[in-house]
Amino acid sequence: MAIDKIALITSGGDAPGMNACTRAVVRTALKYGMEVLGYWRGYHGLVTGDYVTLKRFAVSNIIQTGGSILISSRSKEFMTPEGRQKAADNLVKQGVQGLIVIGGNGSLTGAHLLNQETDIKVVGIPGTIDRDIYGTEQTIGFDTAVNTALDAIDRIRDTASAMERVFIIEVMGRDCGEIALYAGVAGGADAVLVPEISTDIDKLIAEIKAGFEIGKKTNVIVVSEGDDSGGALKLSETLKSRGGIKSWVCILGHTQRGGRPSARDRYYATAFGVAAVEALTDGIAGVMIGWDKGGGIKHVPLNKTYSNKKQYNAEIRKLLEAVA
Ligand code: F6P
Repeated sequence: MAIDKIALITSGGDAPGMNACTRAVVRTALKYGMEVLGYWRGYHGLVTGDYVTLKRFAVSNIIQTGGSILISSRSKEFMTPEGRQKAADNLVKQGVQGLIVIGGNGSLTGAHLLNQETDIKVVGIPGTIDRDIYGTEQTIGFDTAVNTALDAIDRIRDTASAMERVFIIEVMGRDCGEIALYAGVAGGADAVLVPEISTDIDKLIAEIKAGFEIGKKTNVIVVSEGDDSGGALKLSETLKSRGGIKSWVCILGHTQRGGRPSARDRYYATAFGVAAVEALTDGIAGVMIGWDKGGGIKHVPLNKTYSNKKQYNAEIRKLLEAVA
């Protein structure tokens, strides 16, 4: 049966480029003669049946904006089978046959369950600054977040070198060090500490001290929030108590989630949005739209996206070690 009415949500942590993707989904679906309902606040809106019909001009002038016009959230109720049934009933009541979910790992898990347990055809789109989703080389928001972190690192480097200080900059990433690694390489960091690799504090102290001995006066250390050193504040205390090294801390936090999406993020957002609608028109569901290593769109079964862990980026670590 051809799909003529779809729903769209943004779910989990917002990411710059979600609006560009919303625009792409709506514009493509309208071209295929579909009606698009945007549900507010992610899965929460599905459970409560809270939606708006998205017409062409509802998505004008949003390609360049951060955040999400549909608002995003994490829904506890949707995590239960009863909550998902409520969501499906609300969609069926409105005549919706297909759902597109833009979000990260948790959102894609929900997308898989809804697709499996009900008749709603669900397609996921990877939207998270963390770039921690298995099966895709790109996620919406990562490039912007890296550039935001890089801008901060560049500014702090100015002060670090003007004042001859050790700085620790904390970036986002609870379980994944991708932002730290990319911003660290591009920002010329002296050390990058990530959740995937256990941090050897004594080695770090020895390296900083060896640097001091050869006349190095400044250090820029980038640490992921989820690193086992405990993040920037804790690390700063440890450097002082165990190594007698004084350091200054900057926690970038949610500055990395907002802002104008980069050209790359707008591009991926658009490509993913178009591909998600086309998957539904081709009768394909239960997949996430991903970006292939060789470039281009691919379909990844939704259950694979969260049951597998994204591989640690060892190549970029080699680059860091070569130049640090
Ligand atoms: O998943 C995106 C992310 O920004 C993580 O990097 C971070 O750990 C988390 O979300 C923060 O979530 P919240 O905005 O709910 O505090």
